[in-house]
Amino acid sequence: MASLQDLSLEQLRALTVKTFRRGGGSRPDVLLIRADGEEAVLKDFSQADPWFRRLVGPLSVRREARALRQLDGARGVPRLLRVVNRDALLLEYVPGTSAREVPPGGLTPLFFERFYRLVDRLHEFGVAHCDLRSQGNILVGADGEPHVVDFTAHFRRPRPWNVAARWMYRKFCEADWVAVARLKRSHAPELLTESERQALARDRKTLIERAARFIGKSVRNISRWLLTRRQ
Ligand SMILES: Nc1ncnc2c1ncn2[C@@H]1O[C@H](COP(=O)(O)OP(=O)(O)OP(=O)(O)O)[C@@H](O)[C@H]1O
Ligand SMILES: [Mg+2]
Repeated sequence: MASLQDLSLEQLRALTVKTFRRGGGSRPDVLLIRADGEEAVLKDFSQADPWFRRLVGPLSVRREARALRQLDGARGVPRLLRVVNRDALLLEYVPGTSAREVPPGGLTPLFFERFYRLVDRLHEFGVAHCDLRSQGNILVGADGEPHVVDFTAHFRRPRPWNVAARWMYRKFCEADWVAVARLKRSHAPELLTESERQALARDRKTLIERAARFIGKSVRNISRWLLTRRQ
């Protein structure tokens, strides 16, 4: 990717050939860019609302870069090509579609098997993804293989002595596994095993999950309300 290495954010944005998601508010632009036959994905907070851009954007960029560096070489995870500046990252492009766009029945038993293997691999590298509930973060590659993107919410494996954080990390790893079962439930419920059904039922019921979800939603809503321009 030599030619993409030296370009400024503006130059990279000028090479956009597709918009995966338009930024603004609290969100980054996610753009496919192409130059001399090379493709890459630009995740760029520069168009987010001013406070969000100043505070949360750089934090998200740093966090995601740190996770991707730790996962460098893990199959099914796009490589970090470059941190462009405090607003933006450049990632390897994974051709394919997001699981959100795959119609029901479109995913095979082999896909789910590989997806479990991918989730295990993330954890072997010491990273829990924490946002696999969002099907937009799961990609079905043109090769039929699962890939995951968007590591903004990840949680890294803490040191062994940090018992409380270790416990949380295990919970987040469990949530990643349950996310595979959730995808199965929405795309191929007939493939669910008994233990997956039980995990899904537990997932709904546990107080901690509900509390975590409530806190997560509230934090997101409050920070969005505080940091973004009112419509
Ligand atoms: N490396 C990549 N290769 C191919 N497509 C990608 C890549 N990264 C992101 N995308 C596409 O862009 C979309 C949004 O990316 P991402 O999830 O990182 O941003 P986001 O701000 O969290 O968006 P959302 O809120 O929709 O999840 C993904 O659903 C996917 O379709
Ligand atoms: Mg996402």
